[in-house]
Amino acid sequence: MRLALISDIHANLPALEAALASVRSEAPDAVYHLGDLVGYGPWPDEVVALLRAEGIAGVSGNYDSTVALDAEHCGCRYEDPLQERLSHASFEWTKQRVSAATRWLLGALPFRIDLRPAGGHASGPRLVFVHGTPTLNTLYWTEDRPDSFFRKMAGHAGLKDGDLIAYGHTHLPYVRRVDDVTYVNCGSVGKPKDGDPRGSYAIVEHQPHAWSVRIVRFDYDVARAAQAVRDQGLPSELADLLVSGGAVVGPDS
Ligand SMILES: [Fe+2]
Repeated sequence: MRLALISDIHANLPALEAALASVRSEAPDAVYHLGDLVGYGPWPDEVVALLRAEGIAGVSGNYDSTVALDAEHCGCRYEDPLQERLSHASFEWTKQRVSAATRWLLGALPFRIDLRPAGGHASGPRLVFVHGTPTLNTLYWTEDRPDSFFRKMAGHAGLKDGDLIAYGHTHLPYVRRVDDVTYVNCGSVGKPKDGDPRGSYAIVEHQPHAWSVRIVRFDYDVARAAQAVRDQGLPSELADLLVSGGAVVGPDS
């Protein structure tokens, strides 16, 4: 079973379109998203509608759940006044622009999805999708966390040897194995933060007794997305961050 996992699209329609074109060339058996469909970008309704039209299910990101609830804060993390300003401006813009239909669809997203890639008749392995971590969708699960953190999260998720858990939220892709559990951060389709403006997603394949995981990078029309950010009245710094790949400074998700 081969799956494509796309995360943190963040209302970037050209990036999503390019991601789906790349995904099709991989011929997966299914595609899932790992949340943060909206926020920062200028196409929240279009992104949610395209995912629905393509039949792509997924989990709720912090941005999705807080927009759906019309919360006061997006659950975003920021480390300086600029990040705070950009985060608040983007959140307010998104809450004002999304349609009622989009809000309902965001509100219906589950916190977590479990799959059995060998079929429901088999006890394992298990494949789990969350946005941030199994306990909070706002907690940053970065690659440099100690093994003990990975084991703790595996315990929270109820994972056993041979299982895999995939997530996003940090916009920094990686693959790690601790004991015999595989951990996949899919990165971000529409708002990368590792200095590479290309989007990323993961191809996860279940083979007998092993998982094969690949992080795929794809080009998209960054200039179109950056121009639309400016045209739609979002902070111009958000356009600059798309062009730079978010490496220098920017709001956390
Ligand atoms: Fe995000």
